[in-house]
Amino acid sequence: MITVSAHGQKQVIVLSLRSSFYAMRILPDGQVVHLGSGPAAGPLGISGVEQYTDPNYVWDEGCRQYEYPTYGDTAYHRVALKVRFPKALGAAATDDATILPVSDLRLRYQRHEIRTDAQPALVPQHNQPARKASVKRETLVLHLQDIAYDFHVRLFYRLTEEHDVIERWVEVENKTGDAVDVAQMDFAAVHFPPGQYELTRAAGSWAREFIPVRQALLQGETVLAQRGLNTGHAVNPFYLVAEQGRAIEEAGPVYFGALAFSGNWALTFDVMLTDATRVFGGYEPTEFGMVLQPGEVHRTPAFVLGFSGEGHGGASRRLHSFARDYVLPGYKEGACRPVLYNSWEATYFKLSLEGQTKLARAAAAMGVELFCMDDGWFGGRRDDHAGLGDWVVSPDIFPTGLKPLIDEVKALGMRFGLWVEPEMVNPNSDLFRAHPDWVLHYPGRPRTEMRFQQLLDFGRPEVVEHLFNQLDTLLRTYEISFFKWDMNRVATEPGSVAGRGIWRAHVAGLYAIMDRLRKAHPGLEIQSCSGGGGRVDLGIMGRTDQVWASDNTDAFDRTFIEDGFSLAYPPRVMESWVTHEKNHQTTRIIPLDVRFDVAMRGALGIGTNIDKLTEEELGAYKRKIAFYKKIRPIVQNGDLYRLATTYEGKMQSSAAVSVWQTVTADRARSVYSIVVLYQLAGHYVPTYRLRGLEAAAVYRVTDEQEKELGRYSGGQLMGLGMPGDQRFGGAGCAMRSRTLLLERI
Ligand code: DGJ
Repeated sequence: MITVSAHGQKQVIVLSLRSSFYAMRILPDGQVVHLGSGPAAGPLGISGVEQYTDPNYVWDEGCRQYEYPTYGDTAYHRVALKVRFPKALGAAATDDATILPVSDLRLRYQRHEIRTDAQPALVPQHNQPARKASVKRETLVLHLQDIAYDFHVRLFYRLTEEHDVIERWVEVENKTGDAVDVAQMDFAAVHFPPGQYELTRAAGSWAREFIPVRQALLQGETVLAQRGLNTGHAVNPFYLVAEQGRAIEEAGPVYFGALAFSGNWALTFDVMLTDATRVFGGYEPTEFGMVLQPGEVHRTPAFVLGFSGEGHGGASRRLHSFARDYVLPGYKEGACRPVLYNSWEATYFKLSLEGQTKLARAAAAMGVELFCMDDGWFGGRRDDHAGLGDWVVSPDIFPTGLKPLIDEVKALGMRFGLWVEPEMVNPNSDLFRAHPDWVLHYPGRPRTEMRFQQLLDFGRPEVVEHLFNQLDTLLRTYEISFFKWDMNRVATEPGSVAGRGIWRAHVAGLYAIMDRLRKAHPGLEIQSCSGGGGRVDLGIMGRTDQVWASDNTDAFDRTFIEDGFSLAYPPRVMESWVTHEKNHQTTRIIPLDVRFDVAMRGALGIGTNIDKLTEEELGAYKRKIAFYKKIRPIVQNGDLYRLATTYEGKMQSSAAVSVWQTVTADRARSVYSIVVLYQLAGHYVPTYRLRGLEAAAVYRVTDEQEKELGRYSGGQLMGLGMPGDQRFGGAGCAMRSRTLLLERI
């Protein structure tokens, strides 16, 4: 609910959500400053506004909590928007031209409106909207204008009340009659209430994505940024921020945020000289460049913000349900992601009709529903040196095309999926030979290669069109219902016909191809992959059904990755494979139970060389997949409680334990997943108290063998934990895990 009230010469605007509020005030001179945000039991009335003094203002006018700080007025610290006007106005036009351009923007409130049809930039344009996409959500629009230039900025605040989420974005419009240089631009700036904060986020690298990090925010700037055309492996655009010592996993106030954008982004946390903390989120500033022509408008994607009064867990659950309801395409109530098979670790580039058919038969026999053939099926792609760009089936591998394989897959009762990496080209490809100018490069400068590949220039509309046509032809020719969309190199030498606009043009082109494909082929599903988890964010999720969190399929490492991933993103999008006993990335040997239990926390996939398994192993796979199908509506659509994590807890040095519990909205069913990664001798793993159950109800607990372990009241499980947790799998110290189903009786 949005309420606007007058307090003397000031106006106060309050955004009220399920359990939180966000308030700002408009000063008599039209400046819009932040008033506060945080917990609220209901719609908030505010009085005595004059007495709330912006603490920054007392100490330093330059630190004022502007809702959208611009380079102008007294702002000499970091700002959200910096523009340069080429000419001075009025009498000053004759002043010394050498001091031009005018780098000074002073925004003042003009008016506001409340809309229900506002959309940030780059929202999906396909016909498989998210579950609640049609729900009309109130959006506050603040219309601001410079004190003299005909330059306009509109601030948007869209409320998703049930999830305590506000999406903010901004629109700039140049009516000055001259081209205006935009030097820096964020989607929003967000102020935290006074306090000393700590930041929880994910960091890592290839094969180590999403490792949770918790750090104090100290005076100065802390920058999380990606300079590239994917979201990045090293950092991911989300945060959970809490006052130091005042929030834990399931209690206390936590502010969260995430950017819905897959390219050059930055989140800059700024602890000012007044000790006030704020965060800017938007386009990465060092590579940013934009010229707004007369009459031109630019709208940004969304910065998704929210507040949880139930600790970090509550923040994650709000982000998860927001993604399920308003971001993920085509997700219907109760619908589940399929069990997938992927050929990569089984066959790598050694594809053949015979080999893939064998895998498909074994996959179907164990209960797989979607068979995805990975890299190597097209052009001259016999290894990673050649072929990217030529998205036509290789006659060397499949002389009669893909139809025989797809027919077999379909006859086995599965759907068929294919790996693609459309944004890339190998110089050794027909595409590159025909269009050497289609790659990002600077004239006369060397073109670097990574994994022997270069990046196509999405600043050229003909490149985007060409790729759409190639993929569309594939989908028209064959019954393909799933693309694993990969992207395997970082961006360097970004020379493009789009100039510095390439950072935005690439993301827009990528989204446009996906959206057009989904629109033309309504049954199509897409998995986002970027050399593992390099492209995971709320922007790409608007047009992808699931994401690949990491190339690292080692269940030990993966448990850390899953804990970090779950901070922001819902388990249903987290594709996780069971792979070989001796892991290909780490050579670690991990029991099958642990490999399954870890993979079953998300959307289960199988990546093993399954045609080489023994009968006994095949039986175990089959049984576990059947169990997964039983629990997946809870795992994929329930509320997640992290009862213990690899990154938190007193026992960290003596043991690493991760415990996840998912619960259905009606509290009737729950899945309990405990993974003990290591435990020193002499250390006993404690029991973990469950959450979210109905205290008075009795739950039947069964394991994957359908064996009933007992019947316990919700109160007991929440008070004492799961019986037997200390001794399951023997009393030793071995890596072990178990997944249990709880059903209310
Ligand atoms: C990187 C992906 O993350 C892998 O799963 C696999 O698809 C390879 N690329 C194929 O080249």
